[in-house]
Amino acid sequence: MLKAAFMGCVLIIARVLHDRSVFDFDQGLEDEDLATVRNAQHPFADGYITTCENIVRSISPSSQLFYPGSQEFNAHIGHWANSSSQVSACSIEPGTPRDVGLILQELALTRTPFAVKGGGHTTNPGFSSTWGDIIVHEDSDTVEIGTGLTWTDVYAHLVPRGINVIGSRLNGVGVAGFTLGGGYSWKTNQYGLAVDTVTEFELVLPNGKVMVVTEKNKDLWFALKGGFNNYGIVTKITLKSHKQTDVWGASLNFAGDLIEKAQEAFVKFLEREHDHKGAQLGAFAYSNGTMSFGLLLFHDGPEPPHGLYDELLDLPSTSKSIISGSFIDFISSIDTPGHNRIYFDGVPMLRYTEPIVKAFANETKFWGERLSKYDKDVLITYSLDPFEPDYLTHGEPSAYPPNRFPAVLPSGIYYGWTDESVDKHMVDALRTSSATLVAVGIKDGQDLENASSYGNYALFGTPLERIYGGNLKRLREIRKKYDPEDVMDLAGGWKF
Ligand SMILES: *[C@@H]1O[C@H](CO)[C@@H](O)[C@H](O)[C@H]1NC(C)=O
Ligand SMILES: *[C@@H]1O[C@H](CO)[C@@H](O)[C@H](O)[C@H]1NC(C)=O
Ligand SMILES: *[C@@H]1O[C@H](CO)[C@@H](O)[C@H](O)[C@H]1NC(C)=O
Ligand SMILES: *[C@@H]1O[C@H](CO)[C@@H](O)[C@H](O)[C@H]1NC(C)=O
Repeated sequence: MLKAAFMGCVLIIARVLHDRSVFDFDQGLEDEDLATVRNAQHPFADGYITTCENIVRSISPSSQLFYPGSQEFNAHIGHWANSSSQVSACSIEPGTPRDVGLILQELALTRTPFAVKGGGHTTNPGFSSTWGDIIVHEDSDTVEIGTGLTWTDVYAHLVPRGINVIGSRLNGVGVAGFTLGGGYSWKTNQYGLAVDTVTEFELVLPNGKVMVVTEKNKDLWFALKGGFNNYGIVTKITLKSHKQTDVWGASLNFAGDLIEKAQEAFVKFLEREHDHKGAQLGAFAYSNGTMSFGLLLFHDGPEPPHGLYDELLDLPSTSKSIISGSFIDFISSIDTPGHNRIYFDGVPMLRYTEPIVKAFANETKFWGERLSKYDKDVLITYSLDPFEPDYLTHGEPSAYPPNRFPAVLPSGIYYGWTDESVDKHMVDALRTSSATLVAVGIKDGQDLENASSYGNYALFGTPLERIYGGNLKRLREIRKKYDPEDVMDLAGGWKF
């Protein structure tokens, strides 16, 4: 057994807003709510400070609490995108699950709004979330991972030891939100979603008790796999591990006249049979008045099957880079666009046919041009997220996805910009555009009426039914059983 010391989780207390209606995500954010989000810097009610002081008195020396002004506090409230950051009365790095329980008890008693931060990668304001150690169990081929870590931390620890787990496709994404939402990885065609590889969750229940959830706890086992922070605070996740070999990856970019040929070739490629060790990601992007199309190709082995990617690799491209090396080399080679303000939305699809891919390209151009009028820094991307049709057969029923057949393709839209005053335009455009694409899919003959939107992509305000479908009723019943006092409603997120 190996043990690497990583620091504890971050619990952010008094998640900014005092007006709880803002977090009624079922209703969506209205203009005035967005204004509240922006003007959230007003002083905190004394009550929150008192809560912080009570917590300091109850927690063990393993945990630490920080106030505004400290460097730690600033780091804690920081996010990948500033649009997810909100000021709080204090922040805490709990060192033990028991301390998380004591903190939750105090928050419940005083009904203090809070947030739990993992990697801080979510782009919905108020959602974010905690922590960790990495412990490898070679005897059982599992790895215990603290939920405050990022996948970059996890890969850096595991890959040199010759093992890996199912984690994020991009650098910097946190373990907590990614896994508790489902988790799409470069090896999902082989192993399923991250939730399909979980063997155990360590959960601090809303009443403060620490519990280990395994397949024996039928309700929570189902509910935590996609149910985010509805059932308490998950402080550790144990995942199945697999042997890590070298991998192969290619990054291709196409601009101007080269885009159309590349998108056609990608559609043709998707129609063919592929190896389950492979994975691809396509994205149309618009920035600075320019459209582009990018392709990321992956193979879990040092070389892809002979000829598989030739047609794509031979396309005339604006740039092309190929890597054969460690999984970390591949992940580090992927450029993740950052921005001051970022929102996502998800567009469920079942197939990327020619009309669908054309519509993705058209939406990118249309909204890129239109939104650049509000903010010239706008960067928007529309991703094609293909997986093999049987990619959801690796797991058991879980909160997400509500249906494992036919297998939905999550397709993310990313809008990044700078100027806060145009947030509303971005939100409206995202909603309109994702609805347009779903309508194009339905016209294309795809049964998308109830297709599930991926919780880690879905924009705030998305009805819960759209993410959880027919699972919502059961998820709500389980929620009543484990959180009768609605303690977890004090934290942001998709709330059952
Ligand atoms: C747009 O172009 C400007 C000036 O050439 C550059 O500084 C900026 O980084 C570009 N923005 C994006 C999103 O590519
Ligand atoms: C977030 O805002 C801070 C302060 O305004 C700024 O220094 C930082 O660059 C911003 N982060 C991003 C990702 O734009
Ligand atoms: C492109 O998208 C816009 C906005 O959804 C739509 O109005 C227009 O008809 C689309 N054009 C094509 C050729 O599909
Ligand atoms: C979609 O869900 C609604 C509500 O649950 C149901 O009435 C409808 O029949 C479903 N439609 C399809 C095509 O499955």
